Formats: sequence, C-alpha cells, structure tokens
Amino acid sequence: MKFFIDTAEIAEIEKWAPTGFLDGVTTNPSLIKKSGRDMIEVITQICEITDTPVSAEVAALDYEGMLKEAEVLKKIAPNVCIKLPTTMAGLHACSTLTKQGVNTNLTLCFSANQALLVAKAGATYVSPFIGRLDDINLDGMQLIEDIRTIYDNYGFETQILAASIRTPNHVSDAALAGADVATIPASTLEKLVHHPLTDKGLEGFVKDWASTGQSIL
Ligand code: G3P
Repeated sequence: MKFFIDTAEIAEIEKWAPTGFLDGVTTNPSLIKKSGRDMIEVITQICEITDTPVSAEVAALDYEGMLKEAEVLKKIAPNVCIKLPTTMAGLHACSTLTKQGVNTNLTLCFSANQALLVAKAGATYVSPFIGRLDDINLDGMQLIEDIRTIYDNYGFETQILAASIRTPNHVSDAALAGADVATIPASTLEKLVHHPLTDKGLEGFVKDWASTGQSIL
C-alpha cells in the first residue's frame, strides 16, 4: 500500500519525505487555504522536495476551464497529478487528459457508480472520501470494498486512493479492503507507529541493557 500525505504544509512534507514512507502528496483548495499561501508557489515547492505524484486540484467547474487550468498545473513539474472533481465535466476532462498521457486523480467520490465512471474515464486514481461518509452515518470502508470488487471484476487499473482518512483504523481497514493508496494527514501518520507495549518493552530493554554494562560499539 502506498502512503500519500494529505497536506499543503511544506514542513510536514519535508519531515516525511526522507523517511521512505512518502509515496506521494495530495492537496485540495481547503488545504491550500489553510496554508495561507499561493497555490502555484506551494505546488512548485512541494515538487522540489519530492518527485513522487503531487495532486493539484483544478478550481474551474466547466470542462474547458478545467483543461486550461490543467495546462498551467502540469507545466509546474512532471510529477504533478491533475485533481478533478467527480462531476460530468471532471470525468470528461479526465478522459481528455488520459488520452494526452496526463495523470489524474478524481476526487470527492462517494459512490461505486461514480468510481465505475472514474475507471472508465481512465483516471490514474479515484479518491473515495471515507471520513465524510462516516460523518453522515454511512460506511466509508464498505465503499472501498465495493470499488475493489468492481475494479477487480473488470481489471480496471485505476488505483483506489482512500481519502478523508481521519484515524489509524481508517488506514489499516483501507489496507484490509485492498485500497492501493491511503492519503493521510500528518497527525494520523504520526499515530500509526505508536503502541504502548512497544514503549513499555523498549523501556525494559534499555534498563536491562544499561545494567549489563556492555557496549556494541
Ligand atoms: O483527501 C481529501 C481530504 O483532504 C478530505 O479530508 O477530513 O476534509 O474530509 P476531510
């Protein structure tokens, strides 16, 4: 499973890039707003840090506008992945960009039928929003399972990018459901490694090792 970081904060990307766990970056207009920075500058800076896929989202809602914005975004760096909403215009733009060999990420996917259309449009990634479905008492993880089944039934190559991840359980459950990628906020990435028994066990090993008076070096 690939791990993308869901952020427009440079410091978070700089922290995770050297760890070997960072397979990509996703941004969206809300994350750009939160950063308080100019979008083109931020995406350019992210692409200077990593050559992994960096999703940059169009703001236009119409087909022509999306393609014009995609032209600007894809010129930033070869690893920019054009993020489009799962609307008719977004799907149409996706089909066109796919024919041009441009990588795409179809966002705000909330149903299996939307995901089916996304695959038929030839998208590189589909982004089902798990947390936002859970927010309204629906089952976000069931959607990941359904998309996995449908894509496997037909051999679609679009990668399932589990998004709107809020908890460590979302990450492991998405992995169990067969998501290809999880895009994870930095705060949740931090939580993945922690286990109280690891901390307790290490404390005991450190104490016992010190009492042996030995040194490996
Ligand atoms: O990847 C999409 C993500 O940023 C949305 O997350 O928590 O705003 O639903 P959230």
